[in-house]
Amino acid sequence: MPWRENTDPYRIWVSEIMLQQTKVDTVMPYFERFMTWFPTMKDFADAPEERILKAWEGLGYYSRVRNLQAAMKTVVTEMDGVVPSDLDGILALKGVGPYTAGAVLSIAYEKPEPAVDGNVMRVISRILEIDDDIMKQKTRKKFEAALYPLIDPEKPGEFNQALMEIGALVCTPKKTDVPHLSIARVL
Ligand code: ADE
Repeated sequence: MPWRENTDPYRIWVSEIMLQQTKVDTVMPYFERFMTWFPTMKDFADAPEERILKAWEGLGYYSRVRNLQAAMKTVVTEMDGVVPSDLDGILALKGVGPYTAGAVLSIAYEKPEPAVDGNVMRVISRILEIDDDIMKQKTRKKFEAALYPLIDPEKPGEFNQALMEIGALVCTPKKTDVPHLSIARVL
């Protein structure tokens, strides 16, 4: 996947926003084109609105790209272009919720933070047999608490991405015969 070429926080952040509500295969060409149009965070922050909307055309949920630009403008103008590497700092940015924060901190900065989205909740719920309503805010916190002690402190980014991939490819909504043992070995 093109966003795994390096751990530039700008690239990781863009990819994680695109990957919300959109599948990996669809995102890939959009991501590549985005990086040619806006090679740096400053290029993107300075781009006219029509250009950023054009880059997003077909991905839907345009508020994602608008919030992303607002947040990246803040990083460029107020933070010397450095994406915060702490939870409170990154959560304060527009459009950055707990999932995006955990994904960027773990993948770009190797911080041992969980990145809990719907896929990850499904995987963990099946392994740990947690059957709380995943639509509730409280439930995500429960999964985060369950994940903290499991995160590989050496490779938190790889750990989180492995969980996301298990959710996308193996432990899918329709497959209820989860191979608990092989997944437990990964964890
Ligand atoms: N889905 C969301 N983020 C992802 C990532 N970094 N890798 C694979 N699938 C993802």
